[in-house]
Amino acid sequence: MRIAVYPGSFDPITNGHLDIIERASRVFDKVVVGVLKNNSKKPKFSAEKRVEFIERVTSHLDNVETDSFEGLLVDFAKAQNASVIIKGLRTVNDFEYEFQMALLNKALDSECETMFMMTNSKYSYISSSMVNELAGFKGDLSGLVPAEIIDDIKAKYE
Ligand code: PNS
Repeated sequence: MRIAVYPGSFDPITNGHLDIIERASRVFDKVVVGVLKNNSKKPKFSAEKRVEFIERVTSHLDNVETDSFEGLLVDFAKAQNASVIIKGLRTVNDFEYEFQMALLNKALDSECETMFMMTNSKYSYISSSMVNELAGFKGDLSGLVPAEIIDDIKAKYE
């Protein structure tokens, strides 16, 4: 069985993330979305909330699971029996950092392959940080994040 992990902060999940998850779920037997619990970015939403949002918006995908992790990504991937790490690329700006991460993860675990998926061009400008900024200004989030979580994001900024 080909298992892939799709890691990230998902603070919160965007339509760009969901698009990658849906496409990866058609390529792999199982996709485990890995939510990094605590990172230097000081998440706006708790790890539990971020996981719950992802579970809510991926409930139509039978081969997708969500879990949170701390520590090294390669250790999380191994614990999930995953041989592939999926990363989404939006623009060339993402490339340098992701290239470095992929090489580092390969150095840490030679069996771990990172595979990149190009973000759907419809979503290439969306990031969680932009969603949070917009939500802070009470901007319209429709089209940026899945409809099922918009009210929860708005509530956070009320
Ligand atoms: O959505 P993000 O914030 O771009 O995701 C970054 C993430 C979670 C993929 C990255 O920070 C990560 O893999 N963190 C786990 C720690 C790790 O393995 N770091 C690389 C070796 S130091």
